[in-house]
Amino acid sequence: MKSLLAVLNGEKPSRRPVWFMRQAGRYLPEYRAVRDRKGGFLDLCYDPQAAAEVTLQPLRRFDLDAAIVFADILVVPHAMGVELAFAVGEGPVLGVVRDLSRVRALKSIAVTQQVEQVCDTLRLVKADLDHDVALIGFCGAPWTVASYMIEGGSSDERLLSRKAAAEQPDWFSALIARLIDESVDYLVAQAKAGAEVVQIFDSWAGDLPWDLQETWVQKPLQQLAERFRARCPGVPVIVFARGAGAGHLAIARKVRPNAVSVEAGLPLDWARENLLEHVVVQGNLDPVVLASGGVQMKASVTRILRDLPMERHIFNLGHGIRQETPPDHLAEVVRLIRANDG
Ligand code: CP3
Repeated sequence: MKSLLAVLNGEKPSRRPVWFMRQAGRYLPEYRAVRDRKGGFLDLCYDPQAAAEVTLQPLRRFDLDAAIVFADILVVPHAMGVELAFAVGEGPVLGVVRDLSRVRALKSIAVTQQVEQVCDTLRLVKADLDHDVALIGFCGAPWTVASYMIEGGSSDERLLSRKAAAEQPDWFSALIARLIDESVDYLVAQAKAGAEVVQIFDSWAGDLPWDLQETWVQKPLQQLAERFRARCPGVPVIVFARGAGAGHLAIARKVRPNAVSVEAGLPLDWARENLLEHVVVQGNLDPVVLASGGVQMKASVTRILRDLPMERHIFNLGHGIRQETPPDHLAEVVRLIRANDG
């Protein structure tokens, strides 16, 4: 069995599975070449041939255990009818959703071209994948996706979103509910198109105080995961609630994913003692340490390998790869992991 699937199913893998969040992207010159040829990031996302090509690029360079479909968490709002553009060097710009009439105007993603194109990418990648590499589909979590819709793009503090979570106006609860519905359908569509695992990215989970995390992070994740499992039993779920800290334990218990992906700041001895009886742990090399390389990178990798057993661990980063990362550093990390497989 593919090692990633073995670990997620509670079985002993033939080696420690490894993949990297944002493994396809700007740190690879071959990615930049394809993106420039396609005219931009979104055009690349919605061109299944080109998206399949960049999905596979990191697998040609590194001995990885998974491919993650090349797309973005903002495909869901885009397919729901929200305007979306990626301005060069500025990140995403979205049409703002901050009242009930805008929430009511959101469409269902079923049968949209955007979703069809991501599913076509999955089918193309699946047909080209080595037999021991697993294919991952993904979506953003309701809280994180809502924050981009409320702010209209990236924002340092996400204050409008955090105020909405605190004040709970009708439109905010309605927006979260709509995102749960559409994200379930989106993940089911990806599983049907060949995704063998799905990951839910809640990059801003750590924004909220504990009681509001229960309401706006944990409960939506729980509903999303339960409804997905009911329709796709047997497709493992990984939840990345970045910055949840000790809250990963509540997520493990309530959301009951197969794995939780943890940020670089989480002590892995704590994870071993508290999380491993419930879930597999994915993570958590710091992307800045990866970009720096050298002695510290080696020390960090060695420590992670020591702290978590191979049958309960998926090696990954604590957050996505940074643009300035030399690809050689990933090759070295993979070598260190393979040398430890024994
Ligand atoms: O290789 C992979 O991991 C698969 C593809 C993937 C992308 N985005 C491609 C991408 C995945 C899984 C994501 C997830 C994503 N997208 C998240 C959650 C994970 C995280 O990083 O916190 C978020 C918050 C987004 C939204 C997003 N997409 C932002 C804020 C930006 C702009 C900032 C940036 O990094 O450029 C993007 C753009 C984006 N998504 C790029 C890629 C490769 C860069 C686009 C380019 O080529 O210029």
